[in-house]
Amino acid sequence: MRIDVVTLFPDMFGVVRDLGVTGRAHAQGRWALHAWNPRDFTHDVHRTVDDRPYGGGPGMVMMAAPLEAAVNAAQEARAAQGLGRAPVALLAPVGRRYDQTGAETLAASDGIILICGRYEGVDQRFIERCVTHEISLGDFVLSGGEIAALAVIDAAVRLLPGVLNDGDSALQDSFNDTLSGLLDSPHYTRPEVYEGQAVPAPLLSGHHANITRWRRERSLELTATRRPELLESARAKGWLNKADERYLAELAGTYDPASEPPKRRRKASNKPAQSTQAPQAPSAEATLPTPPQLPVPPAKPDASS
Ligand SMILES: C[S@@+](CC[C@H](N)C(=O)[O-])C[C@H]1O[C@@H](n2cnc3c(N)ncnc32)[C@H](O)[C@@H]1O
Repeated sequence: MRIDVVTLFPDMFGVVRDLGVTGRAHAQGRWALHAWNPRDFTHDVHRTVDDRPYGGGPGMVMMAAPLEAAVNAAQEARAAQGLGRAPVALLAPVGRRYDQTGAETLAASDGIILICGRYEGVDQRFIERCVTHEISLGDFVLSGGEIAALAVIDAAVRLLPGVLNDGDSALQDSFNDTLSGLLDSPHYTRPEVYEGQAVPAPLLSGHHANITRWRRERSLELTATRRPELLESARAKGWLNKADERYLAELAGTYDPASEPPKRRRKASNKPAQSTQAPQAPSAEATLPTPPQLPVPPAKPDASS
């Protein structure tokens, strides 16, 4: 995946290019980053990229011409590398909110050209001529598109094959299909007791099915409380099983044991009982739905940077 960024502050992108998970993946050639400064596409001595807004008002507006020239240079560089024309996304509060599906779509693609606005924004004619998507990070206003672009890049790069050390860890994250699109459950590490608070007993039990069930129930509980619409979406996709629905009904206080089908009685047998141990909890693994995997294509190593 190749990411091109048009920005007045290319240095800000060292954060994803050089550090942490995304930095390691960049060094391994799993993705490439190219920054284009609109100032390099100006023709005056001051390298002017902004001007006052027509109609008056505060602030400055980014001029169309340097931005368009930077986008063209990025498209040409991509073409020289054998890549097709990339989507051009402006980071903007008026854009569509970026989410996990957006990150998955980007990770499954050849890449994107991200435009970082500054000042009051960019000349609308540039948007109409060159921009194919507008992406928002949320309902707040940043000083520039760079921080939003960093978030867009980070969320996509960590989904590329081989980027995370434990290949499964992205699948266990909030919003992931494998987690039925629910929120992730709480996590604990050493010590077992911290400031008088113990780690929940199921996590110490070593009983895999009980741990899976405990995590699932915490996910259901958290999602029901904080993001009920995600629960509805999971239900509509058929990703909630009977045990999930029963647990949610218990949480809501609407569970009716009488609605459960009667358990089939075993025929009396002469065989002696196998074990005198307490009955085990039903295997959550056996009942959990198995939603589809991420649509992530094989890695396309891209050594340039
Ligand atoms: C100060 S903001 C301009 C805000 C603009 N006047 C408005 O009210 O919509 C400067 C730049 O920051 C970026 N930006 C600000 N908030 C953003 C957000 N929530 N998501 C994505 N980009 C944002 C955009 O690129 C924008 O052009």
